[in-house]
Amino acid sequence: MKNSLLQLLSIFTLSSALILQALCQGSSRNTTTTTYYVLNFGAVGDGSTDDTQVQLHLLFQAFEDAWNATCESRVGSPATMHVPSGSTFLLQPIVFAGPCNSDVNVLIDGTLIAPSDPSEWKCKDDTCSQWITFHNINNLLISGSGTINGQGAQWWDCKASVCVSLSLCIYTQFGGTGGINVRNSSCHIYVSSSTSEYIFFPTPLFLVIRSTFPPNNQCPVQLSCGTKATGFTISDSNNVYISDLTFMDSPKMHIALERSTWVRATNLTITAPENSPNTDGIHVQQSQNVFIEQTLIGTGDDCISIGDGSAYLKISGITCGPGHGISVGSLGFNGANNTVEHVYVSDVVFRGTSNGARIKTWQGGKGYATDITFQRITTFDSRYPIIIDQFYCEGNQKCTTQTSAVEVSNVRYIDIHGTSSGETAVKFACSETVSCTDVSMNDIDLTSNGTSNTTSSCQNVQGTQHEVFPRVPCLTSN
Ligand SMILES: *[C@@H]1O[C@H](CO)[C@@H](O)[C@H](O)[C@H]1NC(C)=O
Ligand SMILES: *[C@@H]1O[C@H](CO)[C@@H](O)[C@H](O)[C@H]1NC(C)=O
Ligand SMILES: *[C@@H]1O[C@H](CO)[C@@H](O)[C@H](O)[C@H]1NC(C)=O
Ligand SMILES: *[C@@H]1O[C@H](CO)[C@@H](O)[C@H](O)[C@H]1NC(C)=O
Ligand SMILES: *[C@@H]1O[C@H](CO)[C@@H](O)[C@H](O)[C@H]1NC(C)=O
Ligand SMILES: *[C@@H]1O[C@H](CO)[C@@H](O)[C@H](O)[C@H]1NC(C)=O
Ligand SMILES: *[C@@H]1O[C@H](CO)[C@@H](O)[C@H](O)[C@H]1NC(C)=O
Repeated sequence: MKNSLLQLLSIFTLSSALILQALCQGSSRNTTTTTYYVLNFGAVGDGSTDDTQVQLHLLFQAFEDAWNATCESRVGSPATMHVPSGSTFLLQPIVFAGPCNSDVNVLIDGTLIAPSDPSEWKCKDDTCSQWITFHNINNLLISGSGTINGQGAQWWDCKASVCVSLSLCIYTQFGGTGGINVRNSSCHIYVSSSTSEYIFFPTPLFLVIRSTFPPNNQCPVQLSCGTKATGFTISDSNNVYISDLTFMDSPKMHIALERSTWVRATNLTITAPENSPNTDGIHVQQSQNVFIEQTLIGTGDDCISIGDGSAYLKISGITCGPGHGISVGSLGFNGANNTVEHVYVSDVVFRGTSNGARIKTWQGGKGYATDITFQRITTFDSRYPIIIDQFYCEGNQKCTTQTSAVEVSNVRYIDIHGTSSGETAVKFACSETVSCTDVSMNDIDLTSNGTSNTTSSCQNVQGTQHEVFPRVPCLTSN
């Protein structure tokens, strides 16, 4: 066990050197650098929501043109695309694609915003799965003091809308109050679920409607919220360094790292409201040698989620909350064969999160999650500071008992202290057929944030514990 940890650490040290080397190579080739300013390409930086189509088009074109000039540049390396401070740019979904002729710096000091109204998103093939994407680029540095704001509130509202049957439907037309997102069909309307009473102003009548919820939220007409977009995606790229930026209010996850290697994310701030659905901070999948450091994340879903194909991840110096914790998974959805290995999470503070160090897998999956370490973690008011859930089930999925499961093994918890907002501070819910093995806990102290005592719950988990409170009955003490 010690060996594998040492091995892991040496790989990380080696990898840091490689990244630095790779990032330096560009500038040592030619000290001349070239900067392309988006404003020089006709971008209108006023972020006005009533931009006409033409302006929007110009704006989109300006970013495309600036990117093309940057990416095709052979005049010195790196070539820089600069989004200046003091300006707000309304940006439609865009892909900044490589390969590029030289190393590329993207310096974002201004603010980028997405259209706030989902119907104003202009997506190719009507699938808005991504907003800003960097694809197929080697030696890419993205930094700056800027903000990337997905303005996702109306997407979240749509997802959270409930159907309401009206007792009175003589209206022909009405509007909502207080910015309620109203969609109607016949005598049914959809309203934001956070609203308890609905007051509408049909023209020319003033009318207060008291309404009932139809059974099972069944509306005769389905409300389609469309595909929500990931805010910022880096895909199929190598040697990527991303730092200093602020990300907020993405419709779906804020940052996705996909099919990439040697990615370092540092000094980022990622925020969204606690009740915004699926707004993970950073999601990693099919990527290796990923470093996430010194980053503040508070959203409505996982601060960091580690998906299929992730290996050699080092996550440290994270402040997480609100949110669902730092999660390996979910893995094995719909019988998928997923793997995650060599993950080292350290020096994390969880504040008011629903989970802390979490591993979640669906029943019926295949594959494994192995060699995972959580070390030097502090929790304040977390519901489940430590949790492995091999029975993960979400949304409307029918989660029937199944025999196969994603194997969870070789998991280490070291030096974890703090408080839990619930009684069960440690929860290991492992499958009967594929138990969790080689779980070790060392120096754990998790107390209640109130007056109750904390306990551990466990099933089908094997391993050892040393100086652990609350003691885990399934583990042998040593
Ligand atoms: C950018 O370059 C690509 C590839 O060369 C080309 O297909 C695209 O039309 C260019 N876009 C603009 C706005 O010039
Ligand atoms: C760097 O690139 C510029 C522009 O192509 C060129 O004039 C200059 O000679 C190059 N410098 C070196 C050290 O190669
Ligand atoms: C982190 O990012 C912020 C905001 O861009 C910046 O002001 C600060 O200097 C950065 N810190 C470090 C250590 O680079
Ligand atoms: C509600 O339905 C009426 C009649 O079909 C339609 O004219 C109106 O635009 C709809 N309102 C909204 C907010 O969709
Ligand atoms: C799952 O994928 C891994 C890695 O690709 C492979 O080694 C393993 O055989 C697969 N397992 C099953 C049950 O298909
Ligand atoms: C414990 O944490 C929960 C969740 O954050 C919070 O609602 C509750 O007020 C806390 N209890 C105390 C006594 O601080
Ligand atoms: C907490 O545990 C202690 C020691 O086992 C016991 O004396 C105390 O009554 C418990 N408190 C509660 C609220 O259960």
